[in-house]
Amino acid sequence: MTTSAAVAARIEQQPREAAPFLKWAGGKGRLLSQLRPLLPSGASRMRHVEPFVGGGALFFSRLPKRALLTDINPALIGTYTAIRDDVSGVIQALRGLAARHSKDCYYEVRERYNRSPRITTAKRAAMFIYLNKTCFNGLHRVNRKGEFNVPIGSYKNPRILNEDALDAASQALQAAHLRCASFEALLENAKPGDFVYFDPPYEPVSETASFTSYTRDGFSREDQTRLRDVYSALDRRGCKLMLSNSDVPFIRELYEGFHIDAVAAPRAINCNASKRGKVSEVVVRNYS
Ligand SMILES: C[S@@+](CC[C@H](N)C(=O)[O-])C[C@H]1O[C@@H](n2cnc3c(N)ncnc32)[C@H](O)[C@@H]1O
Repeated sequence: MTTSAAVAARIEQQPREAAPFLKWAGGKGRLLSQLRPLLPSGASRMRHVEPFVGGGALFFSRLPKRALLTDINPALIGTYTAIRDDVSGVIQALRGLAARHSKDCYYEVRERYNRSPRITTAKRAAMFIYLNKTCFNGLHRVNRKGEFNVPIGSYKNPRILNEDALDAASQALQAAHLRCASFEALLENAKPGDFVYFDPPYEPVSETASFTSYTRDGFSREDQTRLRDVYSALDRRGCKLMLSNSDVPFIRELYEGFHIDAVAAPRAINCNASKRGKVSEVVVRNYS
């Protein structure tokens, strides 16, 4: 191989910049500059594990060589799997949906998405991305039957298809094992030396601020306590752990004894526009 061919091959193998391609409640995009300095030293050599991956802002910003990404939302994990394994199939299907986007198209796609279980994985992922880009505030909400029920958003000209972003995400996801699972599965899957970033549904700051219906089930105080137990077990196992949550006394008490930093976070998705200001969050680490 000539020198220039070798350089070209190396550039080809280098992961391109990637970013979340979905709008996701609680997405960490605007907190990355505060989270990255808090990563453990040597993080680039560790496996990157995210049990509440959501939009995957930290994963896509880091482009780790090895990753385990899990979430309880099966449609989300199905979409990542399709993007990893058949990005051109997803792009092709999404191109068709983007070309005929309208209010009628939105509700027709939503109906098919909910009622037709036998759609191919790539088409289903395209529908998921289409609905995510055109629905109200990028919310993901399902009813008791598990049907996506968010109304159309009021975007004039939503960007539904960004081929470069999907290609870059597909390349980043080649390094990832993907699993639909609740966070407790980490007790089986995390290994000593893994870097684990937990970004669970947040403990509400007030009774009315509750925004925990990401899937059919909300995330209760019992869930937060079980999560702390998993965190403690993985601490004893020798994993490097970083966790985000709201800055409330209940969370500070749960993680007493670990390193707790406060960061100021802009809130992006809130149905009430007046509540989109900055809020204090905590970052809990088991290393300094
Ligand atoms: C705050 S969001 C994560 C945001 C993500 N870090 C990002 O940058 O977009 C929380 C995620 O936790 C998932 N989730 C809720 N309950 C869960 C559970 N018991 N186990 C695993 N994931 C859960 C939700 O589906 C949602 O994607």
